[in-house]
Amino acid sequence: MKTLIDSSIFKKYESKARGYCRRFNPIFTSAIGSIMNDIDGKKYIDFLAACGALNYGHNDCDMSRALLKHISNNGISAGLDLFSAPKADFLESFHRLILKPRGLNYRIQFTGPTGTNAIEAAMKLARKVTGRTNIIAFTNGFHGVSLGALAATGNKYNRMGACFSGVTRAPYEHYMGPDFDTAEYLDKLLSDPSGGIEAPAAILLETVQGEGGLNTASAGWLKRIASLAKRHGALLIVDDIQAGCGRTGSFFSFEKMGFEPDLITLSKSISGYGLPMALVLIKPEYDIWEPAEHNGTFRGNTHAFVTAKVALEKFWGDDSFSKEITTKAALITERLSHIKKLIPGSYIKGRGMMQGISVGSGELADKICRLIFKKGLIIETSGPHDEVIKILAPLTTPMDLLVQGLDIIQEAVIEVMNKSVPVDVVPFHKETADTPKSIATNLPFTIITNRNKNYAENLNHDVLG
Ligand SMILES: Cc1ncc(COP(=O)(O)O)c(C=O)c1O
Repeated sequence: MKTLIDSSIFKKYESKARGYCRRFNPIFTSAIGSIMNDIDGKKYIDFLAACGALNYGHNDCDMSRALLKHISNNGISAGLDLFSAPKADFLESFHRLILKPRGLNYRIQFTGPTGTNAIEAAMKLARKVTGRTNIIAFTNGFHGVSLGALAATGNKYNRMGACFSGVTRAPYEHYMGPDFDTAEYLDKLLSDPSGGIEAPAAILLETVQGEGGLNTASAGWLKRIASLAKRHGALLIVDDIQAGCGRTGSFFSFEKMGFEPDLITLSKSISGYGLPMALVLIKPEYDIWEPAEHNGTFRGNTHAFVTAKVALEKFWGDDSFSKEITTKAALITERLSHIKKLIPGSYIKGRGMMQGISVGSGELADKICRLIFKKGLIIETSGPHDEVIKILAPLTTPMDLLVQGLDIIQEAVIEVMNKSVPVDVVPFHKETADTPKSIATNLPFTIITNRNKNYAENLNHDVLG
């Protein structure tokens, strides 16, 4: 198809606040699974997944069908927080498939539709529960850019020009190096009447810092933070907006770590389809909101409830998806362990299917990512200096496509580092009729996984008809 839209329209009419489109500048028209198509017919492998909002890939066929059916039946679209059948269905599935099997007991608050709305609600509720105002947030944490959440976000560029109060910054695990115990440091500050920190309403953290450079916290450190929060009368808020919904291998990023957060925020992939939706999980004893005390027009996107239910039923009915993610994560680690040998001083970061490689400088990461994009793969950087090349492929990415994407990363690193292929680097994907190396022109368009087929065949799901 010839380009009909002139991309200068965006420069002319859209605010300079635009971001991702500066690096990835084609005009995108369609997408399926882990493939995006631009207006000129070029295909790209997507290792960005709308920054974690598309864990199940683009346009999952079962979610599309359910949503189309809902719309063609004149199903409710905007409904404030009125009772609706899709909301009831979502609540039932979330309780049966996510909370109950994990022995968790939370009430669900639907907030405004983006992650930052959920963070605002969680911070406000913790303040109401405890009667305190201070929130402890961590170095390199990212929690959104509305004013309350931005106060908890560390990034200087995002914080510029705003004025904050009510948040105290603490060092994340290993921020001060491997030998400095940051949990003990925080405990000491909070225990000391002259430590200079107001008693906190909450401690807010990510178990893997997605935007902050894929820093991971250990189960041991997280457990100690959970216990010191309790001891100091603060609620523990886990921001699972990016690391949740399967990204680290389990539905929640903190599973089997031996603690339960008081509040959990989810957004991004909770709708399954990239539709705006956010929620706070609240331990029942802390659900002290008065009716509509924390409100918003778009609390509960009914279209998102429809697709979110399909996502839960399709991917979280058993542990097969979790196992699939673990296998793919191991492949990513394995391939990165070869790639890092090509870049002196580089190292692997992250966990599950949110892994990447710190290459030491934003300049080098940028150079590599630009070449990667030229070769047909969409991938971003993260970290305080944008020095981490961050793989955030849809969790549903088929193995052969994952390998093709990792091949492209390796190929670009070799070119940028001006290296010939060393013996122990995994050879590029062999070109075959099924998996051509020339991905820019010849990617398989429709990828139907077994789960798609099984879901359609085995589940007598009323929304599918
Ligand atoms: C961990 C985390 N929390 C909160 C947010 C904010 O979400 P949103 O951009 O939807 O407001 C993000 C966004 O990247 C995030 O990664």
